[in-house]
Amino acid sequence: QTVDLELEAIEKGGFEHFMIKEIFEQTRSIKDCMRGRLDSQTGRLVLGGLREYVNKLVNADRIIIVACGTSWHAGLVAEYFFEEFCRIPVEVEYASEFRYRNPIIREGDVVIAISQSGETADTLAAIELAKSKGAIIFGVCNVVGSSIARTTHAGAYTHAGPEIGVASTKAFTAQLTVLNMIALIVANKKGTITEQKLHELLVEMENIPSKVEKALQLNEQIQVVAETFKDARNFLYLGRGYNFPVALEGALKLKEISYIHAEGYPAAEMKHGPIALIDEEMPVVFIATKDSSYEKIVSNIQEVKARKGRVISIVTEGDDLIPKMSEFTIEVPAVHEALMPMVSTIPLQLLSYHIAVMRGCNVDQPRNLAKSVTVE
Ligand code: AGP
Repeated sequence: QTVDLELEAIEKGGFEHFMIKEIFEQTRSIKDCMRGRLDSQTGRLVLGGLREYVNKLVNADRIIIVACGTSWHAGLVAEYFFEEFCRIPVEVEYASEFRYRNPIIREGDVVIAISQSGETADTLAAIELAKSKGAIIFGVCNVVGSSIARTTHAGAYTHAGPEIGVASTKAFTAQLTVLNMIALIVANKKGTITEQKLHELLVEMENIPSKVEKALQLNEQIQVVAETFKDARNFLYLGRGYNFPVALEGALKLKEISYIHAEGYPAAEMKHGPIALIDEEMPVVFIATKDSSYEKIVSNIQEVKARKGRVISIVTEGDDLIPKMSEFTIEVPAVHEALMPMVSTIPLQLLSYHIAVMRGCNVDQPRNLAKSVTVE
């Protein structure tokens, strides 16, 4: 028993929990994910596992992404990214729904399955179904040699290293890294991106680890926010565009480890229902970094303020408008909007972690949850 505990302490590398260790590992894990694959100076952008089938993606009429949970959120970000830069229509499906509804799969459709563990039963079954209908499947997995990695035709590993905490953190940012690289390879081959834009994005990708590092320095500031809201009964997370899936992910992180009810929504959907929930007790987390929907989200914040909601904002460094409208403001470094999810998700991971710890929850092994869901 003592030996086990000592071993665990060593594995946690001085951190109190695996989750916080894994959150802090992201500077390195994102770098590891790009190592040998991306180099803006030489223009290198290669994913070895993709080579044989890459033309299937380049010529795809449609991409169908299947996944569950956090991996599904990574798929939603990828939908925006692929559509913007590759101009290929993308559908993102819950594997559990896809597998049971006789989906239409045509020649020219390509499936991308995303899974940290590579063992999720629903995702595996969705792959088998798509395969039986003749689709080519790409896998984005973290666990090397996992069932999904073995079942797919081609794919790329995320190389995030073992993720022990049930709440997925570093696997998510690594999935985004791989998916962005796949999309940029395809966009480049298809000619849907200019040389200059590609170079700009590669440079931005290389700079992500240092921006994540800066976002991690917000840790203490976020503890103050956590202390203020740890007893809240509900939370709302709102974002637009690339930050919409980040809102979903922020809400999922909070509910799974702190057991606080949380909902993520696209900010504009608020007026179609969730706005009824807002009163002086409701914390509303806005992921409102400077991007093409900035002006729009500012008016969403005003709508929440007018109903006395308690606004917590994630903004881009130097923003001098939103802080005036917020009870708490968390500043993240500026990043191209398509890459912002890799950075804007960091403060949300930290917020849910600290709230859960303050509430005395078992953050690494929350009740009722398993690291990989191998049953349907
Ligand atoms: C994430 O924090 C969750 N624990 C869960 O939603 C997870 O992402 C989901 O079960 C999918 O797992 P996978 O990536 O291993 O397939």
